[in-house]
Amino acid sequence: MKHKTIIEPFKIKSVEPIFMSTEAEREKFLEKANFNTFLLKSDQVIIDFLTDSGTSAMSADQWAGVMIGDESYAGSKSWERMEKAVKHLTGMEFVLPTHQGRAAERILYSHLGGKGKTFISNTHFDTTRANIEFSGAEAIDIAIDESHDPSLLHPFKGNINTDKLEKLIQEKGAKNIGAVILTVTNNSGGGQPVSMQNTKDVSAICKKHGVLLILDCCRVAENAYFIKHRETGYENKTYEEIAQEMFSLTDGAAMSSKKDALVNMGGFLTVRDKSIAEACTNLLIITEGFATYGGLSGRDMEALAIGLKEVFDPAYLEYRIKSTAYLGEHLHKMGVPVMMPIGGHAVYIDAKKLYSHIPVDQYPGQALACELYIKGGIRTVEIGSVMFGKYDENGKLIPAPMELVRLAIPRRVYTQSHIEYVIETFDEILKNRNNTKGYKIVKEPKFLRHFTSHFQKIN
Ligand code: F0G
Repeated sequence: MKHKTIIEPFKIKSVEPIFMSTEAEREKFLEKANFNTFLLKSDQVIIDFLTDSGTSAMSADQWAGVMIGDESYAGSKSWERMEKAVKHLTGMEFVLPTHQGRAAERILYSHLGGKGKTFISNTHFDTTRANIEFSGAEAIDIAIDESHDPSLLHPFKGNINTDKLEKLIQEKGAKNIGAVILTVTNNSGGGQPVSMQNTKDVSAICKKHGVLLILDCCRVAENAYFIKHRETGYENKTYEEIAQEMFSLTDGAAMSSKKDALVNMGGFLTVRDKSIAEACTNLLIITEGFATYGGLSGRDMEALAIGLKEVFDPAYLEYRIKSTAYLGEHLHKMGVPVMMPIGGHAVYIDAKKLYSHIPVDQYPGQALACELYIKGGIRTVEIGSVMFGKYDENGKLIPAPMELVRLAIPRRVYTQSHIEYVIETFDEILKNRNNTKGYKIVKEPKFLRHFTSHFQKIN
């Protein structure tokens, strides 16, 4: 039987116009932005795939929640609702609200970190790594080997390599491990899921050594979708039950709620241990706000509590994951080298393979990001040597392991015809493939250079 089209499981009540620029206009906009997609203005963009973070469309229920937000400094009713929603999902006793994910990370990892400490993860997201390293600690990534091959099919490419984990804990000494951090889904590793079995194995290793296990849970609902459909024993569980089981295997979690809580701003930190909670609450009050709002307004907390429930709606998750796969699989069929299988929140293009004539020190990923903008007004981000490249002592580029471009899909924002338009734009990208030129960096800051670097096209 032919399956029916998966339609957006919502109607549109409020619209935001898109300025339909021409290619000639975009040439000028991009030049003015020094060929850096972060330096474009949002109204110069037609389809914004820069990030899925904080870009969700809120539901009518969430907007209704905004209206009843309780803005009391202490003991707000909206905080009570948010705390209840987080406890229901995570089963953890202590919840700290934060304005976004990295605030939770800064608080937790500055408390657990410091010189001599090591953190181990499938892949630390860049802000996670930055907060750990800023504390003086080191951050080591040990995703399974399969995760490094963009075209290889594996159901749970986000998994941690448990042999390496065991060895590293022994080598460093359990008391020197700040925490093991499982990022679900593994954003920097291509939005790939982590299996429940891997979570159980990692949890057992951590328990045996008395090491803390923290879940970076910003896309935990999307991860639950993959578990239900790919891991035996989970077919009849709800997405929420799967997420709850995952939390039950950990000691704490940090969430950027700008992803799977379907809000534009918000986050939280949650732990089981009282002494960690107390120490973190002190840090929270110093820089974020009082313990019952932590940098959020009451209306933010209200919307977050509602979004955390909505995200587990089976119709929503089905549409979310299948529509991302729809884009990715179409591109794959057209011969665009994409990271396989398609992850939850984004499609990752292997720009090194697409533009095999552009050497890595001429940034093939940046070239693709610029092409997508010029041809379609589509804004994406390079995740390759612009973002992660370093220089050796002679100033020669040490490239990143992969040259990817991420098409991150905002939640509930774009319709199928927007996606068709993106697919059509790739037709032009492929036609122009051999004429596409690389870029050089002409100005760069010392840290996180992808945000502000200036580029020039190499002719
Ligand atoms: N952890 C992961 C896995 C993330 O993807 C992000 C943010 C954070 C933590 C930090 O959260 O932005 O709320 O402070 N990722 C965004 C992205 C920025 O585009 O992937 P934040």
